[in-house]
Formats: sequence, C-alpha cells, structure tokens
Amino acid sequence: PSDSETYTIEKVKSLIKTYPDFPQEGILFRDIFPIFQIPAAVDCLINYLAELALEEAKSAKCGKIDVVVGLDARGFLFGPSLAIKLGAKFVPIRKRGKLPGPTIKYEYQKEYGLDVLEIQSDAILPGENVLIVDDLLATGGTCGAAEKLVLNLGGRVILNQFVIELVGLGGRKSLSGKTMSVMEF
Ligand code: PRP
Ligand code: ADE
Repeated sequence: PSDSETYTIEKVKSLIKTYPDFPQEGILFRDIFPIFQIPAAVDCLINYLAELALEEAKSAKCGKIDVVVGLDARGFLFGPSLAIKLGAKFVPIRKRGKLPGPTIKYEYQKEYGLDVLEIQSDAILPGENVLIVDDLLATGGTCGAAEKLVLNLGGRVILNQFVIELVGLGGRKSLSGKTMSVMEF
C-alpha cells in the first residue's frame, strides 16, 4: 500500500503542534501547518473529510454537495482539494475588503477580537447545497457568520466541517447547521 493509505487520522493528529500564549496570553494555539510538510498526511486528511462529507450528503438525502465554502485564511488550505474530491465548486469567504465586486458582509466576534466576513453576491445560487470547511472551531463566531452569509444568498448549509474542534469553548452551540470535526482538543 502507498504511504497515504497507511497514514491514519491518529498519526495526522500527532502532527499538530501546540504553542502556549500565541498570538496572545491565554491562547493555546494549535498549529496545523506541520501536516502540510507530509504529503501522505494531507492526502489522508482530505480523503477523510471527503468521506465524511459524502456520508453526510447521503444521510441528509440532499443529492450532491454543490459548493465547498472555505474560510479565510486557513480554510483555504482544505477547501479547494475537498471541492475537487466532491466535484463541487470552491467559494471563499474572506475578511473585510479582500473580495472585488458586489459582496454581502457580516460582523462577528472571534476568540480574540471583532471582524467582518464577506462573500461575493453571485458565488452561491439559491438552493445550492453547501459544505463549510475551516481548520478549527473555537468559539464558533467565524463559522456562525459564514453560515449567515450562505443562508442570506439562499444556500443550504448541509455540513460545517473542521479539522480541529476546541471542545471546551462550546463553539458548535452557536452553529445552526450539522457540525463535524476530525479531531478534538
Ligand atoms: C481562526 C481559525 C478559524 C477561527 C476560529 O482564524 O482559522 O477561522 O479563528 O475561531 P472562532 O471559532 O472563535 O471564530 P483567524 O480568524 O485567526 O484567521 P486566520 O485563518 O487568517 O489566521
Ligand atoms: N483560532 C482561534 N483559536 C485558535 C487556537 N487556539 N489555535 C489555532 N487557531 C485558532
């Protein structure tokens, strides 16, 4: 078997590095970038996310996932590869002022500070099935705002997917859509 077939999610989890007091005191920062130094680990993780998404689309009887929405910035590391596996389009949700043309905006609270998210107004069509992906769920402020933007364009949030969930922060309580994470800290 190839390396990517033998790589396990437990091994992927062991690659996450933890930094106390970054980017400010009291935050235990979980760094996903070491995963990207090992192609087989990335492959294992993307395949795992895709399998979970396909299972969810099947059990929700929604047909296919039409759109994978990735959240600025670390959600962009997973979104496009996941979209290719699902045969879906990839759409970014970005921080304020980064997207050209007509956009809609939503202000939200995150673990450290206030921010604004935006999506291009024509990026999701009414009735499209949407999967939202990000590297990490903390307070849920970011993903909650992303859900609002998707719903405001008429999309249906089929699944919110995260690589890491900081369970102690209870972020999934502020999300309206079904929520899954690959690893809990
Ligand atoms: C981080 C992380 C999530 C969000 C989670 O992004 O990548 O998007 O915070 O926090 P929440 O659940 O409390 O909203 P950040 O805003 O730091 O931006 P970055 O990806 O550009 O570093
Ligand atoms: N984004 C929000 N909280 C975070 C944390 N503890 N580690 C990494 N990214 C984060």
